[in-house]
Amino acid sequence: MTPPSQHFDVLIVGSGLAGLSAALKLAETQRVAVISKGKLGEGSSGWAQGGIAAVLNEEDSFAAHVDDTLVAGAGLCDLAATQLVVQHAPETIAWLQQLGVPFTQENGHLHLTREGGHGARRIVHVTDATGAAVMQTLLAQVRLHSNITLLDHHMLVDLITSRKLGLPDAQCLGLYALDETTGKVLTYSASHTILATGGAGKVYLYTTNPDTATGDGMAAAWRAGCRVENMEFIQFHPTCLYHPHAKSFLISEAVRGEGGRLLLPDGTRFMAAHDARLELAPRDVVARAIDFEMKKGGFDCVYLDISHQPLAFILEHFPNIHARCLELGIDMAKQPIPVVPAAHYTCGGVLTDLAGRTDVANLYAIGETACTGLHGANRLASNSLLECMVFAQTTVQAIAASAPSAPVPLPAWDDSQVQDADETVVISHNWDELRRFMWDYVGIVRTNKRLERAAHRIALLKDEIAEFYALFHVTRDLLELRNLVLVADLIVRSAQSRTESRGLHFSRDYPELSAHAVPTVLSPEGPAPAHTSRLG
Ligand code: FAD
Ligand code: SIN
Repeated sequence: MTPPSQHFDVLIVGSGLAGLSAALKLAETQRVAVISKGKLGEGSSGWAQGGIAAVLNEEDSFAAHVDDTLVAGAGLCDLAATQLVVQHAPETIAWLQQLGVPFTQENGHLHLTREGGHGARRIVHVTDATGAAVMQTLLAQVRLHSNITLLDHHMLVDLITSRKLGLPDAQCLGLYALDETTGKVLTYSASHTILATGGAGKVYLYTTNPDTATGDGMAAAWRAGCRVENMEFIQFHPTCLYHPHAKSFLISEAVRGEGGRLLLPDGTRFMAAHDARLELAPRDVVARAIDFEMKKGGFDCVYLDISHQPLAFILEHFPNIHARCLELGIDMAKQPIPVVPAAHYTCGGVLTDLAGRTDVANLYAIGETACTGLHGANRLASNSLLECMVFAQTTVQAIAASAPSAPVPLPAWDDSQVQDADETVVISHNWDELRRFMWDYVGIVRTNKRLERAAHRIALLKDEIAEFYALFHVTRDLLELRNLVLVADLIVRSAQSRTESRGLHFSRDYPELSAHAVPTVLSPEGPAPAHTSRLG
C-alpha cells in the first residue's frame, strides 16, 4: 500500500549550503522538510576549498567586487543580482561566524586570500577546507531544529504541478521522491517547494564534482515548465589533480593566489604567452591556456608549482591539499603538482528572479541549480557559496511574505504497469557513453561539427532512456541518467544557438566576441530558443 502524501509548509530539495541555509532561516516560522538523496549534506558544498568572497577590508570596495564579477562574467552578468550578492556578503559572513564557523584568522582579523579574477584579497576561508567547516556547522544546527524534518536517502523523481494534474494555472503542488532504502516512490505536498540540488558536473567524464551533481533540479524544473538560462557556460577548473588513483581532487585556486606557478613538463612557465594577469587570470582564460598547451605539446597534464614557498607556509594555508597529495606520493613542498582542467561549475540553470522565483508559481530555485544572473558567461571564483546563502535569504523572505496555500490531495505514484529492469548494463553503458562524448565534443573548445555529433547521440540516448523509464521501476541510476541526458541536451542546444565566443563558451567556428551580449534562454514551451529577459 502506498502511504498518503505528507504535507509541509515548505519542501527543500537538497542539503547543500543553499538548501540548509534556507531550511535554517525558514524554520523560525515554517514546517520544513529537507529531501536529500544520499547522505545528508553530501554535495559540492562540503568539498569547497578556496572560500567565500566578501568585501571586508577598507582598501577594498563593493564597486571593485562588482566590477571583478562583471569582468569575469564577460558582459552577461545581471547587474542587480551582482550588486545584491556583493552588498550582502559581509552580513552573510557575520551570520556564519555567529553560527560558529571557525574562519582562519591573522593578527586578530579574518585572513583574506586571493583567487583568479579578484583584484584584491577578499576570500574568507577555513584553511583549504572551507566547505567542510561551513557544512559541519550548518548540519549541527539543522539537526537540532524541531521544525525541520530531515529526509535523507530520498531522491526527487519529479515535481507535481497543477498543469500535470489538468488543473488551471502553472503552480507547484509538491513532488514525488524515491525512498532509496525501500525503492518506493512517496508523495509530498507543500505550499512552496525550493530546488537546491546543485550543479551538473557529472555530465562530463572529468569533473571536480561529487556524484550528486547530476542536474536533477534543472531537469525536473524544465519538465515542470521552467525556462533555463545560459546552459552552455560550463566552468572548467584549471587545476584538478592528475593522478590515476585520485578521483576529482581539486587543487584550489588559492594555491595560485598564494604564488603558485603553472609550468610545462620541462619547467617552462607559460601563462605570460596567454594573459598579462598570468596565473591569476580568470578561470576560462587559464583553463583554455592549459588545454592549448596540452594539445600543442601532446602532454597528459601540466604542473602547478608552489614549492618555492616555505613548508610552514604550505602547511598553514593548504594542510588538506598537502596531506592528500602526500598520500598519493606528491610532496607539494618539494615538487610541482600534476594538474588538468575538469568540469567544475554549471553557470547556467533554472532562470530565477532576485527572490529565487521560477516560471512556475510556488517553485523556487537557489544555489548552483539556479541561474540568477550573477555569474554571466563565467563565474568569478568563490562567488558561488556566497550566492547560495544570499539567495536562500531573499527566497525565504519571498516565501514569508506570501500566503500559504491549502493542501491539495495529490495522486500516488502509479507503478502498477512497470517491472524490475532486466538489463541494468544499458544504464551503466549509457552513463559512460554520455560523459565521454560530452567531454570530447562539448568541452573547453567547441565546433559546430562536434556539437552536431553530440546532439545526434543525445537524441538516441533520450529515446532509449524514455523507453526504460516507461517500462521499469525507477532506480537512482536511471533517474540520474534521465536527468543528465536532458541537461546535456540543454547544454548542447544552448551552445549551438550561440554564434560567438564568450566567457566559457569558445567555438572555433565563431572565435569572435559579438558586440551585443545576449543571454541564452531556452523554454520548454517553444521549439526555438527565446532570447528574452529575466522574470518580471
Ligand atoms: P550542493 O552543495 O551540491 O548540494 C546539492 C544537494 O542536493 C545535495 O545534498 C544533493 O544530495 C542534493 N540532490 C541533488 N539531486 C537531488 C535529488 N534528485 N533529490 C534529492 N536531493 C538531491 N564555490 C565557492 O564559492 N568557493 C569555493 O571555494 C568552492 N570550491 C569548490 C570546490 C569543489 C571541489 C567544488 C566541486 C565546488 C566548489 N565551489 C566553490 C562551488 C560550490 O561548492 C558549489 O557551487 C556550491 O556548494 C553549490 O551548493 P548547492 O547547495 O547549490 O549544491
Ligand atoms: C577553489 O578553491 O579553487 C574553488 C573556488 C571556487 O570554485 O569558487
